[in-house]
Amino acid sequence: MSEIVLDVRNLEAGYEPGVPIVRGASITVSKGEIVVVLGPNGAGKSSFIKAIAGLVPITGGTVFLDGKDITAAPAHTMVRLGLAFVPQTENIFPLMSVEDNLKVACGILERGEIPARIDEMYAAFPDLIRQRRTAAGNLSGGQRQMLAVARALIVHPKVLVLDEPSAGLSPKFVSMVFEMLAGIRKSGVTILLVEQNAKAALAIGDRAYVLVEGKDRHEGIASELWNDPVVAELYLGQRPLKAEKAPHAGEGGAA
Ligand SMILES: Nc1ncnc2c1ncn2[C@@H]1O[C@H](COP(=O)(O)OP(=O)(O)O)[C@@H](O)[C@H]1O
Ligand SMILES: [Mg+2]
Repeated sequence: MSEIVLDVRNLEAGYEPGVPIVRGASITVSKGEIVVVLGPNGAGKSSFIKAIAGLVPITGGTVFLDGKDITAAPAHTMVRLGLAFVPQTENIFPLMSVEDNLKVACGILERGEIPARIDEMYAAFPDLIRQRRTAAGNLSGGQRQMLAVARALIVHPKVLVLDEPSAGLSPKFVSMVFEMLAGIRKSGVTILLVEQNAKAALAIGDRAYVLVEGKDRHEGIASELWNDPVVAELYLGQRPLKAEKAPHAGEGGAA
């Protein structure tokens, strides 16, 4: 059996007392997996992962990371606990250079380890080394997301949690972001990904959940969900005209 890294049970969360937005959502993410959370606009996907990351008040349920209860741990402690969250926007410091963006993300690393770790990020994301002195705000949309992800990965998180990393990008950069995530997963990183771009996300994912009205309504193998009639009804709004070939499947879970 695969080892569960992130185990979210019956999570309830919201911004105001008495107004639940996340209403009993449960998911698991096993070591080495990419798990995708899909769902219509306003379903509570962002609220769900923000609550996991300590950014939205939790009113019920539990979040376990590597077996440790991290429910409602303050957001600033999450990196140390092993959870790195990449928000949809404002995930870099636009006025700082690429290199300074990486440096300030190294907070919990030993001082002596930092230069080598930054070099590892440059090796993994060669676009960034070419732009190391560029202000991050001047990067292309795709490179910006690359920097945001590098900033999250630099501290060796147990799980990388991303909110719609492809949102607002041109098609070329969308594919760049998904290729990057597939590559990161190959290097052994565990990923929880919220996406609007269902087809592309299912193509790189192992398993997926569909969140509707703050609750997980459906779950399945990513490569099978694209043609799943329940998903078409709940989320895609229409059924594919004919059974489309499933997108290329992920590698199939952790060994
Ligand atoms: N900061 C906030 N304060 C109050 N309500 C919010 C806030 N952010 C989101 N919501 C509400 O939570 C619901 C779910 O939003 P969200 O989690 O952003 O959904 P999704 O990411 O699936 O589109 C929406 O009704 C939205 O209006
Ligand atoms: Mg959202």
